[in-house]
Amino acid sequence: IVEQGERVFRLSISAGQKEFVPGVVSPTIGVNAPYLGPTLEMRRGERVRLHVDNGLDDGATVHWHGFELPAAADGGPHQLIRPGARWSPSFEVRQRASLYWYHSHLHRGTGPQVYAGLAAPIYVRDDEEDALDLPSEYGVDDIPLIVQDRVLDNSGKLLYPQNMHAQMMGVRGDRLYVNGTQNAVFDARTGLLRLRILNGSNARFYDFSLSGGQTMQIIASDGGLLERPHAVRSLRLAPGERAQILVDLSEGRPLSLVATSPDNSMGMMGGDGGGMMGGGMMGRRRDDTEMDEPFRVLDIRPSDSSPQRKLPSQLAPLPALDPSLAVRTRRFVLDMGMMGGGMSINGASMDMNVINERVPAGQWEIWEIANASMMAHPFHIHNAQFRVIDRNGRTPPPLETGYKDTVIVDPREQVRLLLRFEEHTDPDLPYMYHCHILEHEDAGMMGQFVVV
Ligand code: C2O
Ligand code: CU
Ligand code: CU
Repeated sequence: IVEQGERVFRLSISAGQKEFVPGVVSPTIGVNAPYLGPTLEMRRGERVRLHVDNGLDDGATVHWHGFELPAAADGGPHQLIRPGARWSPSFEVRQRASLYWYHSHLHRGTGPQVYAGLAAPIYVRDDEEDALDLPSEYGVDDIPLIVQDRVLDNSGKLLYPQNMHAQMMGVRGDRLYVNGTQNAVFDARTGLLRLRILNGSNARFYDFSLSGGQTMQIIASDGGLLERPHAVRSLRLAPGERAQILVDLSEGRPLSLVATSPDNSMGMMGGDGGGMMGGGMMGRRRDDTEMDEPFRVLDIRPSDSSPQRKLPSQLAPLPALDPSLAVRTRRFVLDMGMMGGGMSINGASMDMNVINERVPAGQWEIWEIANASMMAHPFHIHNAQFRVIDRNGRTPPPLETGYKDTVIVDPREQVRLLLRFEEHTDPDLPYMYHCHILEHEDAGMMGQFVVV
């Protein structure tokens, strides 16, 4: 069934194959492709319908990460698509222009399905952004980078480790892939290049920077443009988070986007730096899946010149962040239990049959996320774009001055979020909030809320 004026997308999930090293074939999952899937391009204000066919022998789901939509269209664990079945959600694209993404959200099976390839970007565009002179030619001066790490076994086949360490820390690989490619190279134009970075890894955090210490301009967070560009030398993204940066290639010199991986291991796993005292867990140490760092994410080779573009000094006016609007505060405490055996939020592990929170529509609330564990967790809320009020009372960094749907909560930290659900009430069908380290999510660091 297609209504008038709906834009239709056809997505077919199927088993595929990919050579992560030449000559060695690994089984994968892809959407309209052997691995990963097409970038979907949508416009704010339009209605879309997505026909999603599951050609796998297992159940699957497809979640539209970052979207505000009816719970029935969310693609969370309750929207299971059985093998051979089709799911056809439809919704209005409400949120601001930005980089979003779609990925598996199978109950207790999100980690392995995303790892096998069930993930891809979504571009939303809108008039507000089009009015600015930003690079926006897809594949030319505006490109998505899905950054993912993978482990291969000794024969070169894709491996999803399921040992104790991987369950606790999340699955982390020692090879880095961007849009499915290792050692990726991009032939750019000179001028400004817009990179839309998505940390699509299961568990690894990255600190991105440019070779030679060049600054980059952050222009957008998860939920779209910031008020103004912020020049930074380094940018941290946890799984699920996105950022858009502008890179200045006007001098025509080749340049690399590189990354290091901040430690996110518990002190008890050993190591030589960081540690759980003083300054948290993000010190550097090497562990069994450490990469050779800094590793190259993307080599950029400018050649052909393009019209010189000036960086706009203002981007998008955002409403003032006013916590006094909130009529109530909810608190969420993230914990891992002993040896990762009790992944929980407020002491409870995810139960498909329990609604943890009932949230009235139309009211501002403060959600206070506290981390009782010794590892940082990216906390994600469905059906929402929130603002970050503060971190342990301190002002958040530039990337967190705009709209977000996923936010890092460091050990012993408390992050306060301001949010409101405007519509899409449904007393029975829940949305999720969870840690976006996919193995933590699968192990139960997730809860459910309804908007009433
Ligand atoms: Cu990106 Cu609930 O997920
Ligand atoms: Cu989501
Ligand atoms: Cu976690």
